Amino acid sequence: MTAQNSRSGDELVAAFNPMAPDQVENPFPMYVRLRQERPVFYSAMFDLWVVTRYDDISEVEKDTARFSSVGALDARAEPHPEVRNILKQAYPKFVSLVQSDPPDHTRIRAVFGRALSPQRIAAMEPSIRATANGLIDGFVQDGFGDLVQQFAFALPGFIICDLLGVPRADMQQLKGWSDDKTLLMSATAPIEQQVESAHGFVAMERYFKEKLQERSKKPREDLLTLLVPQSMGGTAPMSEQEAVCNAMDLFSAGHETTTSLIGGGMWLLLNSPEQLEAVKADPSLIPNALEEMLRKEPPVRGFFRQVTEDTTLGGVSIPKGARLFIMYESGNHDETQFPDPDRFDIRRAEAKKHLAFGKGIHFCVGAPLARLEGRIAFEQLLTRLPNLRLREDEPAVRRPYLMLRGFDHLPVAWDVPAKK
Ligand code: HEM
Repeated sequence: MTAQNSRSGDELVAAFNPMAPDQVENPFPMYVRLRQERPVFYSAMFDLWVVTRYDDISEVEKDTARFSSVGALDARAEPHPEVRNILKQAYPKFVSLVQSDPPDHTRIRAVFGRALSPQRIAAMEPSIRATANGLIDGFVQDGFGDLVQQFAFALPGFIICDLLGVPRADMQQLKGWSDDKTLLMSATAPIEQQVESAHGFVAMERYFKEKLQERSKKPREDLLTLLVPQSMGGTAPMSEQEAVCNAMDLFSAGHETTTSLIGGGMWLLLNSPEQLEAVKADPSLIPNALEEMLRKEPPVRGFFRQVTEDTTLGGVSIPKGARLFIMYESGNHDETQFPDPDRFDIRRAEAKKHLAFGKGIHFCVGAPLARLEGRIAFEQLLTRLPNLRLREDEPAVRRPYLMLRGFDHLPVAWDVPAKK
């Protein structure tokens, strides 16, 4: 009997549910078996073809003609009539970098390359550090707190506002709208909630359209100005619709994921006392520790692709029109690439091979910023919060999402430093 038609394989596939509490907590034992027995399979529960091996994921990411990103994040289900009615006020389609293929992707990516250039990002170091320290000043004398809610959420949120050029005071509002946008993608929430989110989505579009119009009249030194399309008097070779959608996506992509890197990474480190001490003694270990954190606890569990022709992947036939779920979370634990993959090892030589930022043409364009924010966050938290530790009386709480991995709450304590 082959692995493909084994009964245990079928049971395994039926049990696959990344949103079930035990698989939110620790999905990795299941992936070990999936990679061996059913590396590519159809999940009827999610109507997705799931890809679990590192090499198969890499093959998908390299072949953008066979595996398209267009519409990859669109809701599968037809929206409720009430939701559809509200969304008539929005653009008919959401068109952003991550959901495009060449040549559109090449054209838009060039604008992002300039907007998020290494020089522009490196110049932000002092302001990122000042922001991190300002947040820590707000709670350092408390001796305990929630590292995600009080720090990991706010730091990237403020920085993406600065980068875009919108007021930090708008961050909470934008975050609410960004959550609305995410909720609409799955179309599984109760109708009242979907209706509310549709209003939020329309408001977010309107917000960025107005900001782009302001920039077209009065350019500034910010990312929104670089996104102003030529049709509005700007320099970006894209339509108004593309500029608005990309500004919206940048806000979403630019904060939640880095929040999870800081929260998930700190959870790993605080659970490994010897490695925690090593990093404190030698902060030059932080960059590789960040890569290992991204490997072990990837903030994006997986991403989607549309199959454009009948094809074969990992020996499995997949029909045209199928939607793939390429699971970075599993690829990052593939034993053929990462020896002893469940071990968290800040000195791991091959850590940087992880798939947490994707691969190929869609490789995360915000990776340099995420790495910089992550490094500064760990440098400042570990120096300013002495004896930082997890709280035993309050559990850390993970977010139960199909696509995203991370903590909503990370209760910690530290020794209150003497006031200077
Ligand atoms: C730890 C933090 C982050 C993680 C784990 C992450 C993860 C990812 C992944 C996996 C992709 C590729 C998706 C695919 O394969 O289709 C991606 C693309 C992207 N990311 Fe990030 N990201 C992070 C931070 C950021 C930041 C800070 C920004 C913006 C400033 C950003 C903006 C983008 C954009 C615009 C794309 C689309 C790139 C393209 O399609 O060419 N990301 N990210």
